[in-house]
Amino acid sequence: MGKKSERSSFTSKLGFVLAAAGSAVGLGNLWRFPYLAAQYGGGIFLFVYVILAFTFGFTLMVTEVAIGRKTGKSAISAFRSLDKRFGFVGILATIVPVIITPYYCVIGGWVTKYLAVYLSGAGHAASLDGYFGAFISQPWQPLVWFFVFVIATSVIVVLGVEKGVEKASKIMMPVLLVLSLVIAVYSCTRPGALGGILYYIRPDFSRLSVKTVLAALGQLFYSMSLAMGIMITYGSYMPKETNLESSVRQIEFFDTLIAFLAGLMIIPAVFVFSGGDESAMGAGAGLMFITLPKVFLSMPGGQFIGGLFFFLVLFAALTSSISLMETIVSILMDKLGWNRLFATVSTMVFVLIAGIPSSLGFGIWSHITPLGMDLLDFFDFVSNTVMMPIVSFLICFLAAYILKPDTIIKEAQANGASFKSEKFYRIMIRYVAPIGIIAIWVSSMAAGLGLFSW
Ligand code: PHE
Repeated sequence: MGKKSERSSFTSKLGFVLAAAGSAVGLGNLWRFPYLAAQYGGGIFLFVYVILAFTFGFTLMVTEVAIGRKTGKSAISAFRSLDKRFGFVGILATIVPVIITPYYCVIGGWVTKYLAVYLSGAGHAASLDGYFGAFISQPWQPLVWFFVFVIATSVIVVLGVEKGVEKASKIMMPVLLVLSLVIAVYSCTRPGALGGILYYIRPDFSRLSVKTVLAALGQLFYSMSLAMGIMITYGSYMPKETNLESSVRQIEFFDTLIAFLAGLMIIPAVFVFSGGDESAMGAGAGLMFITLPKVFLSMPGGQFIGGLFFFLVLFAALTSSISLMETIVSILMDKLGWNRLFATVSTMVFVLIAGIPSSLGFGIWSHITPLGMDLLDFFDFVSNTVMMPIVSFLICFLAAYILKPDTIIKEAQANGASFKSEKFYRIMIRYVAPIGIIAIWVSSMAAGLGLFSW
């Protein structure tokens, strides 16, 4: 992607939508969304998330894609070419994937391990209580799977065969959607699932807090691959003829649908298998790995379905990790003039080393708990909850007050394309998004520091 000669390489709208959706749909939807929803009160989290997705998410994605298409550049250069004073935003945006990629690959390793478990017919063992905890607390096993995942990602990036992967995603994504639907229907029809469905769907406003809103906002940026320049890069490859607004709508709809279904697969099942004990909802990062094997065990053909499911999750995780790694690699190639092989190998070595603490943080390094979190959670918190809102705020500010909303709107209307949400966009980008992001961020950080509690 990083080479200038390859720019403008999406020949169709479908090409752009598929590539962007491949980056967006990943562990954020399948692994992260359900455990956050479970942890932050179920329905209230879902409610806040969906509202934010179609307001803030839409606004930011339109802005990033439009900036990319207008400048024809990837993040760092795009910001600088728009306004010299905003060059630092490109640098901040680059730090985000540098933090995320290592721990993302640790989770990718867990998924690879679970696929191997199902392929070897050991699904029953994986469904036992304590299996997941025993796995992640060992030093070597999770590290080996993490290495496997990183190497797989790196090989694809080195060979530059993302195009092939994108083609395959044309088939894999719909299959993932259908399979998720089947598993969700199965989970929701288990005896005792109703309490869990209600917990997930019905918002309990007494559980609304500014921390829930910030968690939903961070999840939104993460899941839609925003606030790190990736959508700017994809935008730079988008042909002018493609309708920007409808492409963005499609991506956000698909991304939100997959996240919603993932919650529907997992949260009612947590209720069923814990006998309605709400404390089971707080399992955190392991929720998917603990709950789904129990669902598969109780399902006819569950061994096969479990294998197929983890295969598809692995695929979705790979398309996202490729886009994360590609971002770092193309910056190294552009800025330092390195060739693809050297840039990728260097990134791979960095990721392999930087991911080790996140992996060991559940075992021999579990005593290291910055801000009371295990190491993986800590990196996740720094990138998604602290950094992404800052970068997003700066992008809004740049678009609204330096470039002016008209610049973005004109880009969305290039070639006479329609932009139905024009008025809405103007209000969002000028007032609601920047003020909202800062207000949520500041009040939540203050609450975290114990300055007040809401
Ligand atoms: N959006 C991806 C997911 O949901 C994660 C990701 C973030 C990928 C940022 C690329 C860039 O899993």
